[in-house]
Amino acid sequence: MMTECGTLIIGASQAGLQIAVSLREAGDTAPITLVGEEAHAPYQRPPLSKAYLLGGTDLEKLWLRTPEFLAQRDISLVTGERIDSLELHGVGPSGTAHTIGGRRLTFDRLALTVGARPRRLEAPGADLDGVTYLRTADDAALLRELQSDAESVVVVGGGFIGLEAAAVARAQGKRVTVVEAADRLIGRAVAPVVSEFYRAAHARRGVDVRTDARVTWLAGRNGHVQAVELSDGTWIPADLVIVGIGVVPRTKLARQLGLECDGGIVVDRCARTSNHHVVAAGDCTVQPHPLTGTGRVRIESVQNAVSQAKAAAASLAGRREPSDAVPWFWSDQYELKLQIAGLSTGHDHHVVRGDLDGESFSVLYYREERLVAVDAVNAPGDYMAVRKALTQGATIAAAAAADSSVPLRELILPQAVGA
Ligand code: NAI
Repeated sequence: MMTECGTLIIGASQAGLQIAVSLREAGDTAPITLVGEEAHAPYQRPPLSKAYLLGGTDLEKLWLRTPEFLAQRDISLVTGERIDSLELHGVGPSGTAHTIGGRRLTFDRLALTVGARPRRLEAPGADLDGVTYLRTADDAALLRELQSDAESVVVVGGGFIGLEAAAVARAQGKRVTVVEAADRLIGRAVAPVVSEFYRAAHARRGVDVRTDARVTWLAGRNGHVQAVELSDGTWIPADLVIVGIGVVPRTKLARQLGLECDGGIVVDRCARTSNHHVVAAGDCTVQPHPLTGTGRVRIESVQNAVSQAKAAAASLAGRREPSDAVPWFWSDQYELKLQIAGLSTGHDHHVVRGDLDGESFSVLYYREERLVAVDAVNAPGDYMAVRKALTQGATIAAAAAADSSVPLRELILPQAVGA
């Protein structure tokens, strides 16, 4: 297998596919090869920890594009192939990539959309059967199968994956314990008030939530997990363990090319790596963002993957189209719909509005009096208003925002204070 010296995109998920599609939309006619190590065509990951795990949908329904769509646009999709090494010819942009199976692919232009892998649980017994992760469609299929027979589920990690998986297991009537190492849930993404809301919401629905807790040992019988020991010495029965303790960006190929990496592949707002001939997009990257002030951020979301991919395609075509869109995220747990707009990193003030007990509220975040983000639980109007304000570079005064009798959209002020 050889590419005909066109664009090689390594990583066939949301970002990689979007680069291919955007190149074609912009009239690029050179060959495009999209290589992915998974056996499947590119699919949506978010439903894996929600509807798919609940058994409500099949993988084909999650495909991002059909094989016919790709064929019509002359995008060659290579699945089940892992690129293990690559080199540029001189400073690039052309080069050669090598698959694990010994195949060689030459390219004129290169995009890295290699994503991230789940962080592994390090404890004796972590390799027992029944200890699972949730990142890929194959992970989710295995988990779905194991979950149908499980009675006691221990979820390690109280982040998005862990809490969504816990909600599904609870909806299926399993006994569920969440073991979170930090002193609060989803600490990476939300303020303490939102963490506390989710702890109480899961507890109300029968989940045993343990914070400040670590798994020290996993015991099994006949090679299958049976119980989990926590750092305080308690044992919890578990015939299924779901680990969601964060992800590690894949940087091996970037480092082979000598590209700058610092907690991810460093890119600029146009998705260009430290070698401007090579672009990268999605979960594998760290980037500057106007909402974070100085410093770089890794944004793990579909919206970011798509936005950066469009910027990357433009860069490959020689145009500058920065990826500055306001980030947004969501998480569905039970009937709780969390919507996040903006980046609350480094906030120094927040305002709560609405009804925490009634499970409908929002939290607005400010940094140096500038509105930077919202977390909205069953409050889509608040989410939309803040997203609109951030997109317009406008603000909502913190003093006025707490009064939930006034719709937020009526409080949008044209100029962000200090922006
Ligand atoms: P995460 O970073 O959101 O949460 C990991 C959690 O595990 C943290 O609370 C952390 O304190 C905890 N933790 C770390 N080490 C631990 C240990 N040894 N024992 C117990 N707890 C430990 O990562 P998560 O949940 O694994 O999600 C993975 C990826 O999937 C992320 O990129 C996430 O953003 C994405 N995702 C996004 C969703 C969304 O936007 N709605 C939904 C599901 C996943």
